[in-house]
Amino acid sequence: MKEKEASTREKLKRWSHEASKELKEAKDHSQLDDTYKSYLGKKGLLSEISKGLKNLPIEERRDTGQMVGEYRNQIESLYQDLSARLTQKDLEKRLQKENYDLLRPFSLPIGRLHPLTIMQREVEDIFSTMGFEMMDGPELETDEYNFERLNFSKDHPARDMQDTIWTEDGRLLRTHTSAVQVRAMEIKKPPFRILAHGRCFRYEETDSSHETTFHQIEGMMVDRVVSVAHLIYVMKILLSRIFDKEVKVRLRPGYFPFVEPGFELDMFCLLCAGKGCSTCRHSCWIELLPCGLVHPQVLRLGGISPNEWSGFAFGLGLDRLVMMRYGVEDIRRFLSGNLRFLNQF
Ligand code: PHE
Repeated sequence: MKEKEASTREKLKRWSHEASKELKEAKDHSQLDDTYKSYLGKKGLLSEISKGLKNLPIEERRDTGQMVGEYRNQIESLYQDLSARLTQKDLEKRLQKENYDLLRPFSLPIGRLHPLTIMQREVEDIFSTMGFEMMDGPELETDEYNFERLNFSKDHPARDMQDTIWTEDGRLLRTHTSAVQVRAMEIKKPPFRILAHGRCFRYEETDSSHETTFHQIEGMMVDRVVSVAHLIYVMKILLSRIFDKEVKVRLRPGYFPFVEPGFELDMFCLLCAGKGCSTCRHSCWIELLPCGLVHPQVLRLGGISPNEWSGFAFGLGLDRLVMMRYGVEDIRRFLSGNLRFLNQF
């Protein structure tokens, strides 16, 4: 028995000696791994001895098993060391060859905000100082929210004012942000003030002032007694902050089924200041935004009693506002993705 044990020990010693010698001679990872497999793999000598353990007499099994474990650990940790050293060497070689300058400063091009976003955020900031809350609505709307509950009944001729893009299931791409007014009345109790910006869509022939996709900012204020004077005041605050000057405005009658009275608000042209220019088409006034007092029927459809509450609403054309401030002459630039245009802002 003792003899057998001694010969096992011998075998293990020789195994370990050869394994460590060959591992140390390996020049790269693949040689190292092959050698490792041949000594520690399933068919290697070590696993043969391990398998033979169960044939040994009980008294010897433990000691011999322990010995096998120790040798295995030794070789295993040698393999790990050598492998780490090779990885390090590989890296050094690669760095030398590829000639990296790890300390060289580099820069990525930094993006910037779209001019419409810049303006949208500014308008939102101004209105939030006046107690307006931001709201949102879907771009794919129902007839009910976009038209019906804004007092455009099914056959109302005013529907023809907006060239609508319909989907096959009877919904539509919202033609204006006024649909959010309906959603506001649904979820808010008066008094409230909301602002909603977003994309709107119409089936338009495009030119320098018409796009199929454009941007509006809708505002709505509902309180006990809201008058045209409140509307004008709020609009003047907005415009003088945006243009950084006192801005003169005027109202002309305008028709929208959801406001009564309805107006077109014009601002005095800041570019020519009364001399006449091509932007204002020599009229000295620029049509800026439609607005009005909320129609009593719209309040009623929104579950708000027109005997107790009143309100104003406006629909600011964001594209037009940006065009005015920066002198952009073609609305189609905004969605063109042209970096030469966008990098100016
Ligand atoms: N939603 C209207 C449009 O896009 C504009 C509008 C908004 C008019 C609010 C009055 C009040 O044509």
